[in-house]
Amino acid sequence: MSRTILRGRVLSFHRAPQTIDDDASYLYLEDGAVSIEDGIVVAVGDFGAADTTGAVVIDHRPHLIMPGFIDLHLHYVQSQMMAAYAGSLLEWLNTYTFIEEQKFSQQGHADAVAVDFYDALIRHGTTTAVAYCSSHPRSVDAFFAEAQRRNMLMVGGKVMMDRNAPEGLCDTAQSSYDDSKALIARWHGRGRALYAISPRFAITSTPAQMDAARTLVAEHPECYVQTHLSENDAEITYSMELYPGSPDYTGIYEDYGLLGRRTLLGHCIHLNHRETAVLAETGAVAVFCPTSNLFLGSGLFDRERLVTHGVRVGVATDIGGGTSVSMLRTLDEGYKVLQLRGQRLNPFASFHMATRGNAEALGLDETIGSIAPGRAADLVVLDSAATPTMRLRHATMTSLAEELFLLQTLGDDRAIAEVYVAGARAKSTLVGL
Ligand code: GUN
Ligand code: ZN
Repeated sequence: MSRTILRGRVLSFHRAPQTIDDDASYLYLEDGAVSIEDGIVVAVGDFGAADTTGAVVIDHRPHLIMPGFIDLHLHYVQSQMMAAYAGSLLEWLNTYTFIEEQKFSQQGHADAVAVDFYDALIRHGTTTAVAYCSSHPRSVDAFFAEAQRRNMLMVGGKVMMDRNAPEGLCDTAQSSYDDSKALIARWHGRGRALYAISPRFAITSTPAQMDAARTLVAEHPECYVQTHLSENDAEITYSMELYPGSPDYTGIYEDYGLLGRRTLLGHCIHLNHRETAVLAETGAVAVFCPTSNLFLGSGLFDRERLVTHGVRVGVATDIGGGTSVSMLRTLDEGYKVLQLRGQRLNPFASFHMATRGNAEALGLDETIGSIAPGRAADLVVLDSAATPTMRLRHATMTSLAEELFLLQTLGDDRAIAEVYVAGARAKSTLVGL
């Protein structure tokens, strides 16, 4: 059995940092060794104490080795439509998004975009993502087949949508049930693939389709559920017109049994007190998508209020409403959104959220999101002096907190020196990098 040792500075979180000085919340090694066998981390410690006999040593000094980033919400089928000029969510969906996603009825298109999508994730240091595919089952096949070729742990599912969209994108309550069922059987638990039952949002699902989603969730408690919640004022108003019997937007999903610890809810910006309490009670995750929320003018996520009320929170790019594939850029914009809310997110809390925090949100913290024996060797190697601008700031830096803040504020894909997926080099081996 071959063993690889990565040498470098190592940072991995044990739990969420309470303050910027909470150094018991993480492991930091100035000259660390991450030992990997068969794609799994088998030991982590000081390099001086590591057994290097028979091991291949890859020296990443002076770079920082961290768990690969986890993106909790994106649309891989929107990879080619970032930067679409729209005034608000519903205009953006109707003018660009629903046109773009219809292209995924073609298998060749889905296969080609999947390759570019995974290349982009790897270039930016993301090793796991939770994705919406299009309503076409073949887009899901393309998504998971390419993940399997790259040995990546990916979560995704076929979007269920049977109204308020072009015919070429609409399924029916019955076909969305049948297709989702077949895709779960084909992909969930195959290699590293995990399935997410994905009713797009209340506006594009009839009550009959929500019923179908309820049945799927009840029949497949092992699967995730993902949808959008409370992103935009016009969306909320229209949702309540379509579901007048529900007390509020969250209540729609609650009424159809869609809320639980495996439910990921994109955006969650404009929630009332009842909705916040329901999320806390059910354990559903509110997913913060800062670049998207700013780009579409949706609003400012209130992280502190949600966390204070016991809601589980994660962070994501929301490609293509989001404006960067980079989780570094996402953390930067997240910081700015919270600044506007009068809240501060310290850099340790930021990087925790993008790694272990998001792994906990998925209930996968025993598998990914930290560097410890038994975890998958899904890793990112960060260069905090990657660009001239970063180098200038790097020269004055005096602490790990400052380094992380520099990485998130000034970093992008150029700061990703290397990526490992299940122990194998994934960035430097990209074709045409
Ligand atoms: N709500 C329903 N669909 C979408 C989508 O594709 N992107 C965003 N940002 N919000 C949505
Ligand atoms: Zn989304």
